[in-house]
Amino acid sequence: MRTVIVGQGAIGLLCYHRFSIANFGKNNHSVSLWPSTPCEVSHYSFKELNSKTKSFPLSMASRKELASAQLIVICVKSYQVKKALQSIHALIADNAVIILTHNGLGTFEEISHLLKTTQCLLTLLLTQGARKVADYHIEHTGMGNSDLGLIFGQLTSTKQAQTVDYFQQGLQQIYWQEDIKQAQWQKLAINCVINPLTALKNMPNGDINQHVYQEKVRQVIREVVQAAAKEEVTLSESSLLKLIKSVAHNTENNISSMRADIIASRRTEIDYINGYVHRLGGKHQLATPNNTQLWLDIKALEDGFNV
Ligand code: PAF
Repeated sequence: MRTVIVGQGAIGLLCYHRFSIANFGKNNHSVSLWPSTPCEVSHYSFKELNSKTKSFPLSMASRKELASAQLIVICVKSYQVKKALQSIHALIADNAVIILTHNGLGTFEEISHLLKTTQCLLTLLLTQGARKVADYHIEHTGMGNSDLGLIFGQLTSTKQAQTVDYFQQGLQQIYWQEDIKQAQWQKLAINCVINPLTALKNMPNGDINQHVYQEKVRQVIREVVQAAAKEEVTLSESSLLKLIKSVAHNTENNISSMRADIIASRRTEIDYINGYVHRLGGKHQLATPNNTQLWLDIKALEDGFNV
């Protein structure tokens, strides 16, 4: 498989690393990186869990490699997806399989006009932790099950099996989801609660399970369930509450991605998390006061960073 990874952040380098190691020395396989800004870097540093940091060679993608790529994995934040695809869509192949990996929902609406009907768009709901230590230096911080599924276009069963196999060999614990929309909404529900609350209170994920937050968690989830129903996705409030409890418990000492962004004075993905629920509220005349407030509270923090 000829693969290009777009984006040199933690997830981009994690994917680059895993796919290049899994395909090392194999015929007809290549992995290269298309960074957001051209640069001359020839190596990156990677630290596995419980291991030392090592340096690895980095192959930057040429325009020719981008044009002949069969798989394009877009590893940028939700608010960068449109710009990233705008900058490459005229170059990529008519039959390319494009994969999104970001948190949140709402990017498909922004990019659908850039896709050709012969191309496929997949989403990877990646549950693996990776942390950027410095530019081109990352560390792997955790493993989990990840879901892959089709959002747009048609994938033959052979191509689907090849793609799943390729991701399985590279990233492991990959599960194909026929109903990826359902899985995306479940992940959105988790992110609507854990991300803004941990960021606003500057607390680890596990603290969400404290009694004092339970009423807020229920209110946020009720609105998510109602917004999902308007989009023809059926979610169960009680199952989501259990799921959130277990995710918070299993990642109890972790810093959520939004809390990490706020600590580093970076823009967050709130516009595609609670902000997405807020926009759906407007679209369907549905009141979403709790999600709207969390969106506004995080936006107010971001405003202070001039992002
Ligand atoms: O965005 C994140 O940090 C993660 O999706 C999650 C599940 C909230 C755990 O940290």
